[in-house]
Amino acid sequence: MGMAINQLPRIREECEVLHLSEKQCREIMSRLHNDLVKGLGKDSHANSIVKCWITYIQDLPNGKERGKFLALDLGGTNFRVLIINLGENHFDMQSKIYAIPNHIMTGTGIALFDHIAECLANFMKEHDVYEERLALGFTFSFPLKQLGLTKGILQRWTKGFSCSGVVGEDVVQGLKDAIARRGDLALSVMGILNDATGTLLSCAHKNPHCRIGIIIGSTGLIDRSYSISIRNAASSCLGTQDVQIDICAILNDTTGTLMSCAWKNHNCKIGLIVGTGSNACYVEKTENCELFDGEPGKSELLINTEWGAFGDDGTLDFIRTEFDRDVDNNSINPGKQIQEKMISGMYMGELVRLALVKFTRMGLLFGGRGSDMLYERGSFYTKYVSEIESDKPGDYTSCMEVLEELGLSHATEADMAGVRHVCECVSRRAAYLVSAGIATLLNKMAEPRVTVGIDGSVYRFHPHFHALMCERITQLVRPGIQFDLMLSEDGSGRGAALVAAVACRQREA
Ligand code: GLC
Repeated sequence: MGMAINQLPRIREECEVLHLSEKQCREIMSRLHNDLVKGLGKDSHANSIVKCWITYIQDLPNGKERGKFLALDLGGTNFRVLIINLGENHFDMQSKIYAIPNHIMTGTGIALFDHIAECLANFMKEHDVYEERLALGFTFSFPLKQLGLTKGILQRWTKGFSCSGVVGEDVVQGLKDAIARRGDLALSVMGILNDATGTLLSCAHKNPHCRIGIIIGSTGLIDRSYSISIRNAASSCLGTQDVQIDICAILNDTTGTLMSCAWKNHNCKIGLIVGTGSNACYVEKTENCELFDGEPGKSELLINTEWGAFGDDGTLDFIRTEFDRDVDNNSINPGKQIQEKMISGMYMGELVRLALVKFTRMGLLFGGRGSDMLYERGSFYTKYVSEIESDKPGDYTSCMEVLEELGLSHATEADMAGVRHVCECVSRRAAYLVSAGIATLLNKMAEPRVTVGIDGSVYRFHPHFHALMCERITQLVRPGIQFDLMLSEDGSGRGAALVAAVACRQREA
């Protein structure tokens, strides 16, 4: 055996393509700024890539919101149902995570919503709130064209979802229909006896909480279509649907994150997610939102940028690498969500893996000898990046564990240094891209001090992401603009409750 040559310098050289200079960041900022303005403009919106959807949220929480709320959170790695109690200066929350099996993520919309409704029903039974009438906020973290606080048309699926029959449809209606199909959650049938169909419901009139399942018609049988017809009868008879679950708002996770930080910190005007996906929302002046058709008189509203789509028209091609193109070509949505694919947790590990594969084939890593696992798509989890970078300088404990898991126990210390360098380059580029985005928003908002509420697994668990962002944003913002980056406490859950609470406040006002 000859002397092992230190390949680290070659690896560093190869990784140069992943480096984003300050100048490149500034170029990205100016392009993003143009796209944001296009998204907001009446005539340019249709053709814009960054959509800047209006959220219909115009009031931030004032800290006085109280009460018990339900929340649904769909769009990250997990689906969750939550019950949140907002009290004075504190809140408590119980939640349960439900898996969304792959066949449901890529199946029909009906199956997806049925699954959600079933989890919701089970959760309500377990928490004994089955018979209470509760307001619900639905965090649905996909691009929605909102037509109001409780109406949102899905524009495209992202992050590995592809359920049929939902794009172009109102997601809130999808959920309501699923609840109605079950027949056990939706209705409190009080009042329905006044209707012409009341003969079928004679046993219900004593109990205002009587659920459809308890009602026995003349045949003694109740089938699903039957309960739907009762529901429709109820809606037409009562004018409004009297349901136990009151879907008060549909919102994006970025919005939830912003709201959840704003509850305590009134400077919070940007919400950011760096998790499975990447996206940001921010407070914009109503006069700049040319498409807004809601209640006049409010000077600001929340915009969901959906910046994950930035680059879908080639705008980011000047910094994309062969690894980015590979990730995109092999994704469920090629050509879509280009910026997101360079940043977020769904793709970061795979970017690293592709670079490692290339360097192994070049003979720069592992003596040119990879492993089956290394060559398998998706085998390098994004959490590995955080773990590997958590090792102290000169220590490779986590790195070694990861490489062993991947069947690469023949890695030398030099290999491990190479692997860590690749991880650092990929995650640093992600942090810089996010920073360019945040700096663009800060400059556009031109307020002296803004807090950015942040959530998502990458930001939360990567050991240096926060520091990298602070450093880069400081370089990129205009002089005089100050910012704070604040980790949000469960924005998607608590934020949903807050949006529902603010919506209730408005309705009661
Ligand atoms: C994707 C979704 C977006 C969401 C983000 C973070 O980009 O399209 O709505 O906010 O992921 O979860």
